[in-house]
Amino acid sequence: MPKHKNQYGQYMTPLLICDFMVELISHHKTSAVLEPSCGDGAFIESLNKHGFFNITAYEIDKEIINGKYNVKCESFVSVQENNLYDVIIGNPPYIRWKNLENNLKDELKNSDLWNQYCNCLCDYSNIFILKAIKLLKDEGELIFITPEYWISSTHAFKLRNFMLEHGYFENIYYFNETPIFKGVTISLVIFKYVKSKHKNHAIKCVKYLAKKRLSSDELNKIKNNDPLVVEVFSLPQFKTNESFMLIDNKQRQFITNYEQKCRLNSCEYAKLGDYCDIGNGMVSGLDKAFQIQKDIRLNTYEQQAMIKVIKAKALQEYYHTVSTPYIFIDKKISENDLIKFYPNYYAMLVKYKDQLVNRYNYGRDINYWEWVFLRNYTLFNQDCAKIFVPCKERVSNKNNFRFTFVESGFFPTQDVIAIYKKAHTKEHLLYILALLNSSYVFNWLKVKGVKKGDIVEFSVRPVAAIPYRSINFNDQNEVYIHDSIVEHVQMFLTTKQQEHLTYIESLLKQLF
Ligand SMILES: C[S@@+](CC[C@H](N)C(=O)[O-])C[C@H]1O[C@@H](n2cnc3c(N)ncnc32)[C@H](O)[C@@H]1O
Repeated sequence: MPKHKNQYGQYMTPLLICDFMVELISHHKTSAVLEPSCGDGAFIESLNKHGFFNITAYEIDKEIINGKYNVKCESFVSVQENNLYDVIIGNPPYIRWKNLENNLKDELKNSDLWNQYCNCLCDYSNIFILKAIKLLKDEGELIFITPEYWISSTHAFKLRNFMLEHGYFENIYYFNETPIFKGVTISLVIFKYVKSKHKNHAIKCVKYLAKKRLSSDELNKIKNNDPLVVEVFSLPQFKTNESFMLIDNKQRQFITNYEQKCRLNSCEYAKLGDYCDIGNGMVSGLDKAFQIQKDIRLNTYEQQAMIKVIKAKALQEYYHTVSTPYIFIDKKISENDLIKFYPNYYAMLVKYKDQLVNRYNYGRDINYWEWVFLRNYTLFNQDCAKIFVPCKERVSNKNNFRFTFVESGFFPTQDVIAIYKKAHTKEHLLYILALLNSSYVFNWLKVKGVKKGDIVEFSVRPVAAIPYRSINFNDQNEVYIHDSIVEHVQMFLTTKQQEHLTYIESLLKQLF
């Protein structure tokens, strides 16, 4: 049996939040209510306080059950329920499949719902949503607080389709990394979903962006749609097979227009991955052991076995600052060779020998002076300029990402994604750089990129999926715009004068 709290996903909901959610219920106080994973009973307490008394509750962990309430100590996943409910409310456990205890995994493997709608990239909370919907009466309400991931992640698309098939969303409250659960920084949503055959309702979407601890005062402001603390807008019901985007009409139009302008034909837009090769940086496995201090005098062999790395922290919008020299012995050598030909490197590496030997080795036999994973070395070793971007970027209080022009001869490590022009691509690398640093790509990625809360993640797939505005080289005006953009990027790289960036943005605007 699991022993510590995260193995059951035990994060208790503050009473104020339970009250906020209970007040979303539209059904009568006599209605049948289910709390499928009640923990120590915060929702039951709130339901009682609000006059609901016909409550069924489950909890898997007997040690946590509050004796005051009538709780069935069973796993909700396997419960055989004959009753249907008017309301299902709660905070289901949120645990990634890979972190689930084996007995919980085995239970899921025996669940038809899980097998039909989820896979091993899905989360434990998904089964609670699916099963809850099954157990709702027609016009019954599901009110849950969960992390936001399932609303946009690719692997939850079957869950989303199931929800759309069986009902509609009435409210979605989005709490952007607001600290609701102690010690957890995560973006949360509270949603109210109605199981129904009538689905043509609008969704009321409320975004609370202040990230402040939620006092009753603050929650009252949210309830009253106070424009100083929340952004409120109405959304049409989501569409099957799409991720749910919590954006207002203006943003939606912006995204549609941007994608439209990148279209190659009626159904597909061009993507960066069709025009550029993209690679995750190389992994040394222990950077501090491989980084060469500036004051060390290297012999000729050592100088030849060194690469210059641009770390994520040196990346700025358009240009980079310092590079860091790394030991990089590109040939197969023995430890004796290392000692004899690379004495300074040996002295540096041997200090970390234990750690180096114990690095995660990707299942290969690796000597302690070697990098553990070179990934796309052939791509990186080309004699050409390219673009680097940090593999994650927090977007709050920022208006741009840091796509950076990098000259030939510099390498990326795992904190960086590198973008190289494909041979057939006619656009100049500096045009691609300007496009990637534009407000168009920034706003698109903020909505459609891979995000964890406020952090946009760049790995090969999401970068390759960025819509690409190709140039029609038969159109003189487009060619002129392209060439002017390239010229101004060149001038910015030399002078760092901001006015070039403003001008580049205005040139790009003409392409959209
Ligand atoms: C995020 S906590 C929320 C607890 C409570 N609903 C609240 O909001 O305070 C999730 C709860 O689900 C319980 N749990 C985990 N797996 C369960 C299962 N298969 N069936 C029932 N409860 C489960 C955990 O022990 C934990 O108490």
